[in-house]
Parts: sequence; structure tokens; C-alpha cells
Amino acid sequence: MSAREIEADAAVIAAHWREEEYISPPSRFIGQAYASDPAIFERFAEKNFPDCFREYAELLHWDQYWHTTLDASRPPFFKWFVGGKLNVCYNCIDRHLPKHRNKAAFYFVPEREDEPIVALTYQQLYRRVNEMAALLRDFCGLKRGDRVTLHLPMTLELPITMFACARLGVIHSQVFSGFSGRACADRIVDSRSRVLITIDAYQRSGKLNDHKDKADLAVAEAAKQGVDVEKILVWRRYPAQYHSTTPMVKDRDFFVDEVLKNYHNREIAPEVMDANDTLFLMYTSGTTGKPKGAQHSTGGYLAYVAATSKYIQDIHPQDVYWCMADIGWITGHSYIVYGPLALAATSVIFEGAPNVPDAGRPWRIAETLGVNIFHTSPTAIRALRRGGVDLPSQYKHRFKHMTTVGEPIEPEIWRWYWNVVGKREAVIVDTWWQTENGGFLCSTVPGIHPMKPGSAGPGLPGIYPMIVNENGEQIAPGSGVAGNICIRNPWPGRMLTIWGDDERFVKTYYARYNNDPKSKDWHDWPYFAGDGALQAADGYIRILGRIDDVINVAGHRLGTKEIEAACLTVPEVAEAAVVPVADEIKGALPEVYASLQPGVKASDQMAKKIVDAIVDEIGAIARPRRVWLVPDMPKTRSGKIMRRVLSSISAGRDAGDVSTLANPEVVEELRKLVQNKPR
Ligand code: WTA
Repeated sequence: MSAREIEADAAVIAAHWREEEYISPPSRFIGQAYASDPAIFERFAEKNFPDCFREYAELLHWDQYWHTTLDASRPPFFKWFVGGKLNVCYNCIDRHLPKHRNKAAFYFVPEREDEPIVALTYQQLYRRVNEMAALLRDFCGLKRGDRVTLHLPMTLELPITMFACARLGVIHSQVFSGFSGRACADRIVDSRSRVLITIDAYQRSGKLNDHKDKADLAVAEAAKQGVDVEKILVWRRYPAQYHSTTPMVKDRDFFVDEVLKNYHNREIAPEVMDANDTLFLMYTSGTTGKPKGAQHSTGGYLAYVAATSKYIQDIHPQDVYWCMADIGWITGHSYIVYGPLALAATSVIFEGAPNVPDAGRPWRIAETLGVNIFHTSPTAIRALRRGGVDLPSQYKHRFKHMTTVGEPIEPEIWRWYWNVVGKREAVIVDTWWQTENGGFLCSTVPGIHPMKPGSAGPGLPGIYPMIVNENGEQIAPGSGVAGNICIRNPWPGRMLTIWGDDERFVKTYYARYNNDPKSKDWHDWPYFAGDGALQAADGYIRILGRIDDVINVAGHRLGTKEIEAACLTVPEVAEAAVVPVADEIKGALPEVYASLQPGVKASDQMAKKIVDAIVDEIGAIARPRRVWLVPDMPKTRSGKIMRRVLSSISAGRDAGDVSTLANPEVVEELRKLVQNKPR
């Protein structure tokens, strides 16, 4: 998208989103907030960079203190807290035992309301993690630096497995449970995992879903691509019962609950890791078809998520904190598991969909558990609002703090969150960040800044954003002119690199605005986020959305190229183009345009075949709103498919001047096809 186009889009949005009035954080919140003194911004001002981040690292226990806060000698491969040694599992569990052994580390809330909520204390978590670590080490032969793929849903077994890996220095790569077996296979292959950890089944959307079937598919597919998985470890949703239709393969598949009996009460010393060793991989979508493994560090990452959990989420040890995201995404890693537990908080894990059996469910959970910090996405807020505008008022929950993340939030929806869900007592933070970032980048600091509906807020302490135009020139701060948002400086939570692809890392995030590839000065290496944004006079940033080929569906990133590649696995498809279309609840949905091979007839079955291929290759989250089978695609003279023209057609907008296309007549034809069909 060119700068002009972003500006045009911004203008469209601005027409609907006028500059909003400030709302002050409730004084009751400010009175107890960890950060209420604006001096934090002085301490984290550029003149104190990078040493300001010491304060973050000091929230952790270090087996060996670091000697260099930031090593920026090989940009953009920045290293934080160099020389420091620590273990993440020790920091999130062991060190809390003397004071908090008896406190719930997690509450597990099953989707079915007739199943009891499980409270897992820090002591119990310690035991279960040690036993699992013993199993991974002694039964699977895993050691530091090895990669393991996890394909687990929202049950306690997921964080237990993650911590067991972290204890051993094994790199976990958790794949969102909604992804298909094939998508899981690609991640197994890229990370070269020899062990896959899954579960037989899980409850979601009112039914018990078979999950082990995906593991069989994943392993078969990985083998075709040359990676042999030796063991599949299968947790059981209901121990001793088995709820998958697939057979257990002898000497390959093992029930974790059975094998664990051999490791009863075993204790494993936490591996002493380097601050810049890898803690985990999180695959995410980008511009090309292949998902990339964001490779996150140990020391910098944990320091950053602990500190942002403390100052932005304001999590105190006595709080009950519930983030409704899925641990399979970065939000869950940073703000359900690692950040909250580094602070000895109680974190809620909810297995189900937010509106099952009805839209009152989240508020009943909050009432029962005394949740006082709530964290979710605009998509969930929109869906819950649709379930009953006044419904939350009927419940007795009381939040002090609420977070929104993942997509721009419409001011109208923000106000509902504030007035009805939060009952005007809960401060709201709109946090902007990405898988690659580790933790929040832009947000208000809740005890310091007033809130402005629809705007994320300024850069966090120690984060210096800027907005640049297509030519790399900085747009005047506070001018309200749209451009591409960049972060000028390195920060501790940023990923180390893309797993196995340093070159792609540099190219994707740095090449665009770097003037001198030889420069050793971090000032020459702004981080390019891939989002359009504008900054108002008060310094608050409003995020406009992705400027690359990424569709944000319900706050989840999907690459248009990945979906197009899935369409092309159908042999009858000649060409496919995927565009985002606006959706009232999910923000955006993919819509597919496909042309068929000569001689193949368009039919409903053919469209269905394409949908099935997408669900099979990626997962149900990528299910398109509609597949349009078209005679031809609008193309430039050089043969490039004009996706912007297609998205105007889908949106019912004027496609603009198309006279320079190679086949302008096709635009009218498609417009008739699409706009005359009932939805
Ligand atoms: C979008 C999720 C507006 C943005 C943590 C970004 C947002 C992408 C916000 C990253 C927000 C995230 N307001 N847009 N508060 N937060 N985004 O990697 O387009 O799944 O680039 O990380 O989500 O998605 P990801």
C-alpha cells in the first residue's frame, strides 16, 4: 500500500472516528497502581537508554548477573543483559514457593459449566512441572536447545508442558490448537521437532473435539517433508479415558498420564540458561506464504513481559487476573503464562468459547473467581455485546483494570466496554504490539495517562515510536498524518531473529528504513512493524491496521499468501487471490477470488472444495466468507493481480480508475457477479 493509499484509508476512518474526549482513570485505581508517577518517563527517556531497562531485569532472579545491558555491536541482532544467566521456570515457579506455595497459580475453568473449576497451587504446579520435565528428559531424551512442537488447547497441560520445557532449556513451539494437522506439520518441519505433544480431545463450542487425529496427520505430512517425529505424547482431557477416533500407534504414541507414573515426585534442577538463549518459537504469518518462527529470548523476554505485566496490567500478587486469549498465540504466552507468573499472580485459563453456553458466561466466571483484571480482544467484546447490551450489568463482578488487544477498537465498542463491562470503575488499556515484539509497545500507562477511546496511547516507557512515510522520512510527531509506524530503538522483548532465517529477519523488519546496512549504530536501525498509524498532537497513537498482505481475523494473523497457496492445492484452480472484507464481529474475514483451469465448470461443489482445502491446510479460522469463481482476475499489464480492485468490489466500493489495467472490462463483470449475489 502506498503512503497515499494509507492516507486515503486514514481519511475514511477519520471521518467516522473523530478525535475523542479524554476519560480519566478512576481515582480508586490510581491510588493502588504500581505506576502513577510520570517520573517513570524521565527514567526511561532516551538519555538513559539502554540502562533504564535494568529496572526491568531486576524484577527477575539471576543465577549470574549480566555485565552488558545492551550489546548493539551487530545490528539488528541486538543482545540484552549479556553475560546474565537465569532459568524462566525457576523465576515463574520455584522462587515463589517460600511465600506463595499455597496460592493458586492457575484456575482452570472447563468449558462445561457442570465440570468443576480446578485451582492449581504454586506447589502443585511445581510438582507437575518437575515430573513432566523428568519425562521429557528421561523418556524422550530431550535436552537444552532441542525443539518440541506442542499442539495443545486451553487446558492446564499446556502451561505445565511449556514450563517443563523451560526448566530443561528445551525450546517449545506451541501451535494454536485451531490450526490443522497440516499447518502443524509445517511448523514441525521448520523447527525440526522430533517430539510432538498433543491431547486426545478438548471441549470447545459445546462439544468434545477430537484432536489426536490432527497429530497423526501432522506426523505423516512431516515425514513426507523429511522430518521424522519419533514420539507423540498424548495428554488425556479426562485421564484414563480416550476420546479420539484414531488408534494409538505402538512405540510412537504414549499417554502422558501413564508414563508420568514412572516419574512420581521426581525433581529436576533448572537448567542455567544464557539470557540470549531461546525460550520458544511462535510462528506467525507474514507477507510470503511460509509462516516464520519468531524466536524469543530468555532474559530480555521474561524481563519485558514481567515489567509490562506489572506496570501496564498492574498485576499485584493479590489480584485474580484473566486474559481470555488463547495460549497458542503470543498474547497467551506473554500475558497468561510468563508475565503473570513471573509476578506470582493467579492467572485464569478458560477452555471454552466466551459465549458458551451464553454471553453471561465470562461474567459468571469473573463473579465466582473474583477476577479483578480482565484482558480480551475487540472481537470478543463485540461478540459479547451482541449477546446482550445490558447483560453484564446483571452480574456482580468488579474489575479494576481491563485490556484490549489485537485489533483497532471502535470508540463505540470501547465505550460499551467502559460503561457496561467495567461499570465505569475499571481503567482500560488499549495495547498495541505483535508476535515479534514479545510485549506491549504502545499503550497508556493506566495510573498516569487519561484514556482516549480508539487510540492505543503513546510508546511505553523506553519505547520510542515514530511514523514514517514511504520515503523513510519521519512524519512530524503529533501531526495526525498517517504513515508506517516504526520503533526507533531496540527493546528487551523483541525476538532474537526468525528461526533459521536471519536474512529474512533483516529484510522483513529492518531493510526498508535502514540507510546504511554497515552501520553499527542502533539509531540507523528502526524496526518496521508493518502497521499504518497516526499520532495525534497529544502523542497518542492510533493504529490503522496492516499495510502488508496480512489479514487480521478476530485479532489473529493470517497471511493472504498462505490462504492463496491453500486454494492452489485444488488442481482445478488456476489462480487465486484473497482479500480482506470487513466483518461486524471479527473485524475482517478473508474472501477468495479463484479462476478455474480451462474446461472446468464453476459450481457450488467447486467452491466448497476450495473452502475445504483452506480448512484442511490452515484451519477453520481461515474459513473464507465467500469464494467467488471468476472468469478472470483484474491484472496490470505486467500480469500482477490487482487485489485492491478485488477488495473494492467485495466492499461494494468504487474500484477507482482501472483504465490502466490489462483487462479493465473484467472489473465491471466481477462487480456485477459479486454485488448482485445475495450474501
Ligand atoms: C494488530 C497480537 C490495533 C496490528 C498481540 C499488529 C492492533 C497485529 C492492536 C499483530 C491494537 C495488535 N490496536 N491493532 N491494540 N494490537 N494489533 O502478531 O495490526 O497476532 O500488527 O500480535 O495485530 O498481531 P499478532
